[in-house]
Amino acid sequence: MNPLRRLGSSRASLLTLLAVSALASPAAATAASAAPDAVRASTLGAQAAQSGRYFGTAVAAGRLGDGTYTGILDREFNSVTPENEMKWDTTERSRGSFNFGPGDQIVNRAAAHGQRMRGHTLVWHSQLPSWVSSIRDANTLRSVMNNHITQVMNHYKGRIYAWDVVNEAFADGGSGQQRSSVFRDVLGTGFIEEAFRTARSADPAAKLCYNDYSIENWSDAKTQGVYRMVRDFKSRGVPIDCVGFQSHFGTGGPPSSFQTTLSNFAALGVDVQITELDIAQASSAAYANTVRACMNVARCTGITVWGIRDSDSWRSGENPLLFDRSGNKKAAYQSTLTALGGA
Ligand code: G3I
Repeated sequence: MNPLRRLGSSRASLLTLLAVSALASPAAATAASAAPDAVRASTLGAQAAQSGRYFGTAVAAGRLGDGTYTGILDREFNSVTPENEMKWDTTERSRGSFNFGPGDQIVNRAAAHGQRMRGHTLVWHSQLPSWVSSIRDANTLRSVMNNHITQVMNHYKGRIYAWDVVNEAFADGGSGQQRSSVFRDVLGTGFIEEAFRTARSADPAAKLCYNDYSIENWSDAKTQGVYRMVRDFKSRGVPIDCVGFQSHFGTGGPPSSFQTTLSNFAALGVDVQITELDIAQASSAAYANTVRACMNVARCTGITVWGIRDSDSWRSGENPLLFDRSGNKKAAYQSTLTALGGA
């Protein structure tokens, strides 16, 4: 029997309290910093876990037979995002007919390896079957969208840590408004709120994220547009738990305001996550700067890179990832591990 249980619950919680306050005391903090080796790990996932974060990667079902790929996946990463397998053109290619095979392959494998899952993505104008993008009737589209969210989330209920409920709904450029898409054009801008409300009812335990690219620079109109939406959602009680910053960067890495952006969003009361990180030419400094921005924001809960080896990347010509084509660690791997606090 658990000795704490024998003590009775009030004694047990008192002991827990004492233990927690000892850990939180300045003396304990000093002791911890005096023994840094004890908290240094040698893989990305294990090191991120030391600060309560995860370090993940996008995974393609088609590569799971490659032993080099899965070897790195299981050694380094403790979170997984399906690169394409949960998108609408795979999960509901024709109306009402759902295909969870490729997604299940990734989810089952991740569960067997103790990796958490990010679900990607429920409502997105791209990789959307034409039977959806050609709908012109609002009632039909509303019911199709809500049914899609509900069916996919029900299927994966309890197995997904965070869902990208709506992906890339804002326009590039200076408008700060939503982009044109079948969802906005037929349902109006309120489709995002509706999607989040439907998602909360489908799986109340999953974190619900809005995910986008080019929202890392604080002064950009697109960033400001998404910020205003999240602020509005929080003020009206629309269920949103997190914002994903895709972080597909050029050679220079993140904009200098990236940490400011992360902390300003976090101050609205949402978690922030780096969800699809890759950096052209993968300079060590650019990766370190990105990771540091997250580490410096308490509510930045994790980082996902968009693929494992350069050859796995959608931008493979730019060599943007942490492992080379043979699966060797690149210089940016080391700077990333160090920025996470590791040896
Ligand atoms: O599945 C078909 C296959 O049947 C066919 O033989 C083959 C021929 O080209 O294409 C395969 O589909 C490709 C699919 O990836 C799976 O490999 C598509 O053509 C290709 O367009 C698709 O690209 C994906 C892209 O999203 C599509 O928008 C990338 O792998 C994926 O990395 C990328 O990921 C997105 C995120 O979801 C959202 N943010 C941006 C990010 C990068 O574009």
